Amino acid sequence: MKVLIVYYSMYGHIHRMAAAVEEGAKEVPGVEVVLKRVPETLSEEILGKMGAIEAQKSMAHIPVCTVEELATADAVIFGTPTRFGYMCGQMRQFLDATGGLWQKGALVGMVGSVFASSNTQHGGQESTILSFHITLLHQGFIVVGLPYAFQGQMRMDEITGGSPYGASTIAGGDGSRMPSENELAAARFQGKHVAGIAARLSGK
Ligand SMILES: Cc1cc2nc3c(=O)[nH]c(=O)nc-3n(C[C@H](O)[C@H](O)[C@H](O)COP(=O)(O)O)c2cc1C
Repeated sequence: MKVLIVYYSMYGHIHRMAAAVEEGAKEVPGVEVVLKRVPETLSEEILGKMGAIEAQKSMAHIPVCTVEELATADAVIFGTPTRFGYMCGQMRQFLDATGGLWQKGALVGMVGSVFASSNTQHGGQESTILSFHITLLHQGFIVVGLPYAFQGQMRMDEITGGSPYGASTIAGGDGSRMPSENELAAARFQGKHVAGIAARLSGK
């Protein structure tokens, strides 16, 4: 039973959330969890101008995913930062290379789930996750979110990411806020929830 976590992170927020998703998925017995990044599409020069070089270096040890690898998993949990309310271009380019898998129906019946981050509280986390689901549905994924069984999304005592659609984190206007304990708990819950469903479906 293999759960693949595939993400893009420019400044490290989604990278931190991905580690929490991984922790949660690993709680399900018999599950192999593999963490991968999608390929970068921006040049060093552009990344430098965006102030992302140091963060990119800190994630360099995470291997880069190939599209073919998607077909080897029982479940895929995707992580993306918001770009104008939608997934980032790096993730879009990766998904746009999955046409061959679509032709073969290679991802049909697989469990798919999405987590996200944005700078502002209402800056598009939900639209990013929901619009991502469209691609997953075209590919035949069984889409899984973050049920209210994760009670942390009900809290009103602090600002927090997380919705029924998936875990998310708010990076703050200047990107300096890292995922809170509640947001990390949501990510762990989602990882465990997806892995548990995939294990039940696969009957392994
Ligand atoms: C081109 C661009 C567009 C962005 N659009 C949004 C947006 O619509 N709403 C928002 O809150 N944050 C937006 N952001 C901020 C990113 O979502 C934020 O940097 C990211 O979630 C941080 O996660 P990361 O460190 O994993 O990359 C944008 C950033 C860039 C570079």
